[in-house]
Amino acid sequence: MLKWKELYEECVNCHKCALGDNRTNMVFGDGNPKGKIMFIGEAPGADEDRTGLPFVGRAGKLLTRVLESLELHREKDYYICNICKCRPENNRTPHEHEEEACLPYLRNQVALVRPKIIVCLGATAMNCILGKDWRITRDRGKWVERKGFYMTATFHPSAVLRDENKKPMFWEDLKDIKKKYGEF
Ligand code: URA
Repeated sequence: MLKWKELYEECVNCHKCALGDNRTNMVFGDGNPKGKIMFIGEAPGADEDRTGLPFVGRAGKLLTRVLESLELHREKDYYICNICKCRPENNRTPHEHEEEACLPYLRNQVALVRPKIIVCLGATAMNCILGKDWRITRDRGKWVERKGFYMTATFHPSAVLRDENKKPMFWEDLKDIKKKYGEF
């Protein structure tokens, strides 16, 4: 297991897959590296690629706003990152070999943060972390305990932006995450 600085250096120099050749910035992660909650998304979009920070575009702003309304603050309460650290062109879903190449970095981040709660944002992160048999509309909001981590999934905030009907469920899931957070 690498320490933060060495891990960052590995990621910033990574060319294990072609996404590394096309990035403006590698998007490592943000928030409290000792946060009790870790949110995991899919991959950076255009705003993230430009700034080097995760979840800063429209979807990220929605997520940040909802979490703040629940008094969950990025600098204090959670760490946030993605399965893939580099942007896929045109925001396509990452290929499996790209996820596989990047997963050791995420595992190392999880080992360093040691969160109590892991939240997968959207189907891609959920299928990668919780299993291929999970279905986002059916299984969102469910909790499993694995290796001492409490894990769940909710909609990706960009799915909520596309479909207003998902908002109440998204809100309900995040409220439940806040409740779980209160247990630690
Ligand atoms: N979508 C993601 O999955 N991650 C980001 O960082 C931004 C948008």
